Amino acid sequence: MLQTSLEQEVLLMQEAQRLYKQLCGVSRSKNTRWNLADCLAAAPYTLAINRFKKEHNAVVLAHSYTTPDLVYGVADFRGDSYELALKARETQADLIIFAGVWFMAETAKIINPSKEVRIPAGKAGCSLADSMTGQDVKKLRAKHPGVPALCYINSTADVKAQCDACVTSGNVFDIAQKMPGNELIFVPDMLMAQNLEAELKRRGTPKHIIASGGSCCVHDKYRPEHVQQLREQHPSIRVLAHPECPIEVCALCDYVGSTKGMASYIASSSDTTFGLLTEQGLVNRMEAEHPDKKIVWPFGTCSYMKRNSLINTLQALLDPRPDQIVTVDSAVAEGAKKSIDKMFELAK
Ligand code: 13P
Ligand code: SF4
Repeated sequence: MLQTSLEQEVLLMQEAQRLYKQLCGVSRSKNTRWNLADCLAAAPYTLAINRFKKEHNAVVLAHSYTTPDLVYGVADFRGDSYELALKARETQADLIIFAGVWFMAETAKIINPSKEVRIPAGKAGCSLADSMTGQDVKKLRAKHPGVPALCYINSTADVKAQCDACVTSGNVFDIAQKMPGNELIFVPDMLMAQNLEAELKRRGTPKHIIASGGSCCVHDKYRPEHVQQLREQHPSIRVLAHPECPIEVCALCDYVGSTKGMASYIASSSDTTFGLLTEQGLVNRMEAEHPDKKIVWPFGTCSYMKRNSLINTLQALLDPRPDQIVTVDSAVAEGAKKSIDKMFELAK
């Protein structure tokens, strides 16, 4: 039914107000917050995306590191790598729009190959996933015959296909503990490998971890002095870090865990001030979901995640570019699926 321009303006204003309810108080940059005008500018896109989603039987999965207009404006599910992989596996939708980085969308395609998977950001990389190939894993395994190999989900399908199981930041410690033997290959995050070795020792199940040389270009920038500064400026602060951070940083924090783990810690804590050593998107989520708590954040933005926008989400729905449509070589996908399925089995 055609709408008059007045009716359209009313709809837009209502949508802007819906967005503003969720985004007011959320930082847009270091010194600005989402305002009603920002929400009014986003409203035509969120309205169109939500309408076309229904028409195409599409679902939007958004990682917490994408921007809040996506996370709260159009995402059907928001979460960490593990939660989104589970949603991708279970969905009844025909089309999955994955607002995240390439390895996440690729994982969704591998575990649910009958679905069309599209990524608004196109081939958005990840410094970890891009740090090694399946061939590199093969060479490493040849040097350490008989040693089980785990890969972090932040890896290419090719790398996953060469490993016994993959893990996410939410289940890495528990799954590593279940692996046989006292040696373990863990790729591609060398900083997470150090945190893993320390955690296994702390749990009384030590293993020597054989690592490769990758790191997250966002989390590897944090230093012990950032934790010290947060504590000096906010004496009652709780400092939370992602296990992709350096071990000397994690050692000074009150909690180390996945994005979901950090979110749960804040939700269940009676403390009021939290320092987050992780990507801006999670900071924005905590600001939106806990307006009564103070969230302090030194820095940390993933330019790969931020390549997703409302504009390219709409375009990926309506008229995708070839690089926004996820395809995986079938032989590689078969090997990678075994490693992802093993994770689902071991994570139970
Ligand atoms: P999570 O699984 O904790 O969300 O981590 C994903 C990621 O890319 C962290 O940098
Ligand atoms: Fe990769 Fe780091 Fe970005 Fe996560 S934050 S997607 S690990 S580059």
